[in-house]
Amino acid sequence: MFSLNIINKFLVHKCYNHILKLTVEVTMQPEDNFKIAEQELMKDYGYSGIWGRIKVRFRFMKSWILHSLAYSSPVPSFSISMQRARGVKIGKGCHISPYVLIDLLYPHLVTIGDNVSIGSNTMIFAHSNMSANNNLHKIYPRKTGNVTIKSGAMIMPGTIITNNITIGENAVTSVGSVVVSDIPDNCVVVGNPARVVKKIS
Ligand SMILES: CC(C)(COP(=O)(O)OP(=O)(O)OC[C@H]1O[C@@H](n2cnc3c(N)ncnc32)[C@H](O)[C@@H]1OP(=O)(O)O)[C@@H](O)C(=O)NCCC(=O)NCCS
Repeated sequence: MFSLNIINKFLVHKCYNHILKLTVEVTMQPEDNFKIAEQELMKDYGYSGIWGRIKVRFRFMKSWILHSLAYSSPVPSFSISMQRARGVKIGKGCHISPYVLIDLLYPHLVTIGDNVSIGSNTMIFAHSNMSANNNLHKIYPRKTGNVTIKSGAMIMPGTIITNNITIGENAVTSVGSVVVSDIPDNCVVVGNPARVVKKIS
């Protein structure tokens, strides 16, 4: 009984310290990170002023709700409709599996051709940003770039595609590939960074 009491007190103390540490860390974050990100996003969307701030928030909320519906849907046609409603350009006859992340802020920069398949847990990013570290943000400012996946490509599960990338026609990215440069037409790529291992004739 006595030892249980000591363990209990020890755990409460540990938890308390942890919560205190988290609170300090959170309150120490410079408040302007969110504002900087929001202003950059407004600039990219062509919005300004108070009305622009309202519009950017509504636009993000709409995009996020549609993405959430697409993300968890096991029905590819529904998922595709939701992604199109967010602004992703998607051709005919495509298949998008559940749990595919398509850039939350810049969906309109993603273009997917006809008959493209995208496996679960693929992530497609049309931007990069060092959101919470102002120093890193100066060194690596926000970058955006179109992602184009051309017709017939097969994006295997777990592929990660960074911004400013074109994936060629009928190209295949193997499971878990990390695509950081353009992929030519008719080839198979594997690994991190994705490299061509086969040509498909
Ligand atoms: C893309 C794919 C179909 C290509 O198949 P393939 O043409 O028969 O090519 P191979 O399997 O012979 O692979 C070619 C080379 O890439 C390597 N490789 C294959 N997949 C890899 C991966 N995910 N990561 C790293 N290397 C990989 C192989 O080891 C092989 O290397 P080697 O030549 O040094 O031996 C296959 O790599 C793949 O991703 N299969 C998984 C499919 C899957 O599980 N899909 C989930 C449901 S859709």
